[in-house]
Formats: sequence, structure tokens, C-alpha cells
Amino acid sequence: MSIIKTCASPEDLATTAAEHIVTVATEAIDDHEYFTIALAGGSTPRGTYETLATIEFAQRMDWERAHIFWSDERAVPPDHKESNYRMAYESMLKPLAIPEENIHRVLSELEPERAALHYQDTLAEFFSQEPARFDLILLGLGTDGHTASLFPGTDVIDEKKESVVAQYVEKLESWRITFTPKLINAALNVTFLVSGQRKAAVLGQVLSGRYQPENLPAQIVRPDNGILRWIVDAEAADLL
Ligand code: 6PG
Repeated sequence: MSIIKTCASPEDLATTAAEHIVTVATEAIDDHEYFTIALAGGSTPRGTYETLATIEFAQRMDWERAHIFWSDERAVPPDHKESNYRMAYESMLKPLAIPEENIHRVLSELEPERAALHYQDTLAEFFSQEPARFDLILLGLGTDGHTASLFPGTDVIDEKKESVVAQYVEKLESWRITFTPKLINAALNVTFLVSGQRKAAVLGQVLSGRYQPENLPAQIVRPDNGILRWIVDAEAADLL
């Protein structure tokens, strides 16, 4: 099942996504006393994270019960301008004063394979089941159809055993640490945030085109027993 919510503007997307996150978090905390979320990287989610850090949203839930993870990370130090952790820390985690022990970042300063193995251990220590079942995984969508760091033509698309791997991305000439399809599809909720005219073509292909995950890896996201949502703005939804 896939739910698509089209928002009027990027600002409306940010508010809608923040509302969604607080709703899922509140349900999770009511059900099992804590909330696990894997944040998306890139630039699109920044507005949502900043909205969550506003006075209005900050008081909407008990952030001390939120445990923060990342669905992928660049193989750069945590203070690097490209770090997904740094973007989230500056826009949300620091303003919300999320407890240090609730922030489970990828040790991206390590050699990539070691960082991936360490993150697997981090998940194994926190979650009782394997693969870990996140309350919510946020994802973005690249213009080439990638999501997390599942890029077209990379081996991780076909990874069936591991939950987290290090993947060298030729086109970026860089390493990434990423959730695998197996881990993403184990989540209770998976939500894509997609904004902007430049994503309209790929969003149309991913949602309405032929199933070809080797070329459009975002298509591989089909939660086994979870809900898939797309929160998109009008420009991104232009061709739907
Ligand atoms: C990353 C992300 C990646 C991102 C898409 C969209 O580390 O870059 O996880 O999958 O979500 O590339 O990025 P934008 O939101 O910047 O368009």
C-alpha cells in the first residue's frame, strides 16, 4: 500500500512531514514507550527538521523518547559540510536538545566497511529483532532514482543478507554507508520526502513507470508489513 500526499509548496511539505513524524512518534511512544526514526540525508529534509525544532512542534512530543538513526551517510567526518549527521544536528538535534545517548550516528570517520559493520552492531544492540524494525524511515529521491545510497547499478540493490553495507558509488567517486532494501522494507513506516520540479520526471517514472529497480532503486522500497508514504510538493508531482 502506498499513500501519496501532495503539498502546495516546499514549506507546506515541511509542515506536513513534521506533522506526520510527530503522529507516528506519538503512536510509537504510546505503543512501546520510545520512537525510532532513521533520518534521510540530502537537502530536502532540512525544512522538515527545522520545523520539528520550532516551539510549536518541539512541545508536541517527548523528544527524550526519540532515538535517532540515519538511513545513509557519506563517508566523511561528522563535522564535514557533506555529513548527513551534521545537517540533522544543526537543524534539529541540537535545537531540540536530543540526549546524546539517543543519537546513533554512523561512525563515518572510520574506514567505510568498518563504519558499516559498526552500524550493524549499533542496530543489533538497540533492536531486539533482525532486521531491525524502525517505527519510521525517512528517504529522499535522487534525480537518477536512487534513495538512501542505493544508486543505479550498484551491488547493494541486490543485497539480501546484510542490513547495512558500505558501497562505493562510481558516479560520486565516493563511499557511502547505507541501509539495504532488506532493512528499509522491514520498517513499520517508510516515508519519502520529494520536492522540486527537477524531481518531477523521476517521481513519475518511479511511481508510474515499469518496475526496474536496477535503474530506479527507489522502486525496491516496498515495506513487507509497513506503510509506504510519499510526501511531495506540487512541483515534484507535476507529472503524476
Ligand atoms: C544522501 C541521501 C540521498 C538523498 C537524495 C535526494 O545522503 O544524499 O540520503 O538519498 O535523499 O540524493 O537528495 P536531495 O534532497 O538533496 O535532492
